[in-house]
Amino acid sequence: MKRLKFLFLEDSPTDLELIQRELKRGGVEYVSLHVQDREAYLKAIVEEKPDFIFSDFSLPNFDGLSALTLAKEACPSTPFIFVSGTYGEDAAIQTLTRGATDYVLKDRLVKLVPALKRALRESEETEARRKAERDKFEIEEQLRQSQKLEAMGFLAGAMAHEINNPIMAIIDYARMIEKGESDVEKVKRMAIKIQTEGERISVMVKDLLRFARQEKGQFEKVTLTHSLIKMKSISEQRAKMSKIFLQVDTTEDVCPVLCKEGQILQVLLNLVNNSIDSLNQKNEGYYDDKRVSVFAKMVDMGNKPWVRITVEDTGVGIPPEIGRSIFNTFFTTKEADKGTGLGLSVSLSIVKEHGGYLSFESVPMEYTRFFLDLPCAV
Ligand SMILES: Nc1ncnc2c1ncn2[C@@H]1O[C@H](COP(=O)(O)OP(=O)(O)OP(=O)(O)O)[C@@H](O)[C@H]1O
Ligand SMILES: [Mg+2]
Repeated sequence: MKRLKFLFLEDSPTDLELIQRELKRGGVEYVSLHVQDREAYLKAIVEEKPDFIFSDFSLPNFDGLSALTLAKEACPSTPFIFVSGTYGEDAAIQTLTRGATDYVLKDRLVKLVPALKRALRESEETEARRKAERDKFEIEEQLRQSQKLEAMGFLAGAMAHEINNPIMAIIDYARMIEKGESDVEKVKRMAIKIQTEGERISVMVKDLLRFARQEKGQFEKVTLTHSLIKMKSISEQRAKMSKIFLQVDTTEDVCPVLCKEGQILQVLLNLVNNSIDSLNQKNEGYYDDKRVSVFAKMVDMGNKPWVRITVEDTGVGIPPEIGRSIFNTFFTTKEADKGTGLGLSVSLSIVKEHGGYLSFESVPMEYTRFFLDLPCAV
């Protein structure tokens, strides 16, 4: 096991010896670093990165509270214990509120080793918790990435469809010109159409590229109705193929929110895809009111303005008994080739990262409404 490095800030050799004797008696093994003034102390916490700091409260040219403040900056997770003689209860409380791990009085040094062990245990626990959080974040990141690839594959498919029409039109116009259309006005009109069709394709490709690149994107101010327009252009083809009316209302004035737009688009696509699946589950063919409605509006939450996006469908609904599980990773009621159960869990992690909420209400065989709530940018 790695030997722990202990830093002692102490001006009295006798006290230092007493402290170290106490540690020895408790069977604690360590490498000792001893300093007595500010300069040496600063150098030690920055360069040596001690595992533990023991500090006197008052020193001739320096003081324990300043030492604590410096440690909180240079090595915030290193436990810091005051070992002091002249010590009132008030001063002790003050050190604890300022972030000291513990304090021990010099005339009660028997408490030193238990305090040390307690602090070590706590810092191990904190480190373990941090590691678990890091691991969780990494796994979530991987899931997001794989779900995004899935969404992109689907997107590319839909786009291939969409792009086909303007390309066919461009080829037709070019053929007519090649065949010798001599009316200059007609040729001009065709050239303009070629331009518009070309631009349509260019916009679609740009959207796809933006979506592909934005995974690690920056937070920026975005007006979500603009994202709804993008979502519509991406999802429309799939809705059309299922005879679904995708009704996207972008007329409401909403405040901008701070978000990674590519990720929010991913959430919207997941919600709309789920709605399309649900409507198809009710009936693959056309029926009255086979519709997904998406709209944005402002809502008040605790006196602060938020934007709420609602995605509503009239599909099979979510039975109460599975309501608790739908956000779980890999929970799906779909066949293996139709769903992996990642959509909502990835969406939830994205929304949480944005400081928002993702919730739903549903009445089986009547409707499902998903709400995406994000705070307005200040
Ligand atoms: N709008 C909805 N209507 C009815 N059920 C829904 C709706 N949205 C989600 N669900 C239920 O929640 C489950 C989990 O959804 P989620 O998006 O996480 O995974 P999935 O759609 O099954 O698969 P994936 O999104 O990975 O392709 C779905 O299988 C479905 O049972
Ligand atoms: Mg899904």
